[in-house]
Amino acid sequence: KKIAIFASGTGSNFQAIVDAIKAGCLQMEVALLVCDKPEALVIEKAENENIKTFVINPKEYETKASFEQKINSVLLENGVDLIVLAGYMRLIGSTLLTAYKNKIINIHPSLLPSFPGKDAIGQAFRAGVKITGVTIHYVDEGMDTGPIIAQRALELSGEELLSEVEQKIHEIEHVFYPEVLQKCFVEKN
Ligand code: GRF
Repeated sequence: KKIAIFASGTGSNFQAIVDAIKAGCLQMEVALLVCDKPEALVIEKAENENIKTFVINPKEYETKASFEQKINSVLLENGVDLIVLAGYMRLIGSTLLTAYKNKIINIHPSLLPSFPGKDAIGQAFRAGVKITGVTIHYVDEGMDTGPIIAQRALELSGEELLSEVEQKIHEIEHVFYPEVLQKCFVEKN
């Protein structure tokens, strides 16, 4: 399976997926990183791993459709069959949703449908929930609303600092995302 990872930020999940592939735990190939932020740290990570990077500035496109058509043409050129979002801070539009129907997945740092959107870890922390976690789901036109593929829970005592909760959530993500990709998108096919 050839995947494109879409990311806008640090890229720790990008790195975890690449590391799982290198360790032989995940039988996929990262054909491409797609990044919408030229200054994002994830770009450097891709360069260090010799992974092809496509940086695209949405401001240079008049419409979401033309922006996504450009991305789609690069995905097709690279033989991408699955899109893996990892901290991509932009809603996917109908162009890519149609071209990659049921082939776009996302990871979200809460137990959806609780706490969609930005700063999910902070939202859950401030709500004082005693169970939170990580969700992997198919992407639809909404914000973190698509069908759920897998979830992993994290219990909180209420004594943790926000930074500790963030660290625990990210640790789960980095193990869970490669695991679910392998189980649901390699072994099932
Ligand atoms: C992760 O917490 C992911 O769940 C969310 O955005 C964050 C991306 O972090 N969608 P990173 O760029 O992979 O380090």
